[in-house]
Amino acid sequence: MIYLKNTLQLQSMRKAGALLYEVLCRLREAIKPGVSTAALDVYAEQLIRKHKATPSFLGYHGYPATLCTSLNDQVVHGIPSESVFLKDGDILSIDCGLVLEGWQADSAFTVGVGAITPEKQQLIDVTEECFFRGVKQAVNGKNVGDIGHAVQIYAESFGYGVVRDLTGHGIGRNMHEEPSVPNYGKPGHGVKLRPGMTLAVEPMISMGDYHVNELEDNWTIVTADGSLCAHYEHTLVINEEGLPELLTYPGFILMEEA
Ligand code: MF3
Ligand code: CO
Repeated sequence: MIYLKNTLQLQSMRKAGALLYEVLCRLREAIKPGVSTAALDVYAEQLIRKHKATPSFLGYHGYPATLCTSLNDQVVHGIPSESVFLKDGDILSIDCGLVLEGWQADSAFTVGVGAITPEKQQLIDVTEECFFRGVKQAVNGKNVGDIGHAVQIYAESFGYGVVRDLTGHGIGRNMHEEPSVPNYGKPGHGVKLRPGMTLAVEPMISMGDYHVNELEDNWTIVTADGSLCAHYEHTLVINEEGLPELLTYPGFILMEEA
């Protein structure tokens, strides 16, 4: 069942999205060599609770933290730890979700710690560009497969791998709703996109092969070949005009091609 959101519900989702944007901006500033991933987690939880919201990951199927902090070859769901300290040259993916007045927001980004190589920066930049190319397809009348296809062809043009075992998703009162939003696909295939649909689009792109494994902590997903991975995610709505609006990036306007 896909729940289309009305104007009033979207006002609430905009509030949740704007708060998550603020939280992630503060976290970005806190990322530097020597900081533990647990310290980032504590900071995120404080920021969220101070604004009368709740961390959505904490307790989700038993997940033990507010953030996912996934380093280097970790794709997603890395658990913050007091004994993991950020190092110069790492790439760190931060994923965070919150609930405000019953409405969910979900967003993620990857950033270099200290100075990183041009190769690592390219992976991060291409992953973000994959996201924006996917989002451009998130318009009334297109299909979920158009989003995935746009992500896939751009990532693969760099020889990168598109992680298939995890996908984007619908979002609303629940963190994960229908439809599933894969980062690969065929144009014109899959669920038809409609105004009022709220989606989390989240490419996970690896420098090598796309296959992944789960670690023994039963959470952390790593690339099978040990290659580096980046992640970029926003919650969006296909608005009344049939165009994508990024709820977790307030004020951002997608530009038309010149
Ligand atoms: N943010 C992830 C997603 O995009 C979900 C996190 S899983 C959790 O779907 F267990 F950490 F919550
Ligand atoms: Co998500």
